[in-house]
Amino acid sequence: MKKVKIAVLVSGRGSNLQAIIDNIEKGALSAELAVVISDQADAYALERARKHHIPAVQVSGKGYKGKREEYDALLVQELRTRGVELVCLAGFMRIITPVLIKAFPNRILNIHPALLPAFPGLHVQKAALEHGVKFSGCTVHFVDEGMDTGPIIIQAVVPILDNDTEDSLSARILEQEHKIYSQAIQLYAEGRLKPE
Ligand code: GRF
Repeated sequence: MKKVKIAVLVSGRGSNLQAIIDNIEKGALSAELAVVISDQADAYALERARKHHIPAVQVSGKGYKGKREEYDALLVQELRTRGVELVCLAGFMRIITPVLIKAFPNRILNIHPALLPAFPGLHVQKAALEHGVKFSGCTVHFVDEGMDTGPIIIQAVVPILDNDTEDSLSARILEQEHKIYSQAIQLYAEGRLKPE
């Protein structure tokens, strides 16, 4: 099967990136990681990429306050230069603009640690605990111009236990994130993802 050229955009630890790398190396994912891009120079995700000889690039957000479109234009340039077909956001802590979305229509995915449309935004594991919901989970979805609003591709459900803390719940959700992100990318690679 043809390998889809992907980019993973990160800002921090990069455990989802690692799961994608591992699945590619195992042959479980028909993808080639063309580049990992971080807005943060010290993101551990960049180190993970380098360890696997994957191009790791920092595109600093410094100087782009209030100029998100200009920043995204830089991303588009980098992604196009590398021949990227599918863009995977994995803990990328920036709000993206139509400049990026229009350059990759229906070709940007994101992973979110809650069962959307419940709990969009940040600190969602804490919010789930505070609301007393009995189940949470994670969602891979297409990125559109809203905040965590695009069409849903895959979700995984996890139970919330009485003695859960934000950390224990996050860890249980993360384990599922590491599975479903690769599954969603594989669906794309097989031409089985229809955004509408
Ligand atoms: C994950 O919980 C993901 O759902 C959210 O940001 C976190 C990134 O974690 N969007 P990591 O950097 O992949 O370890």
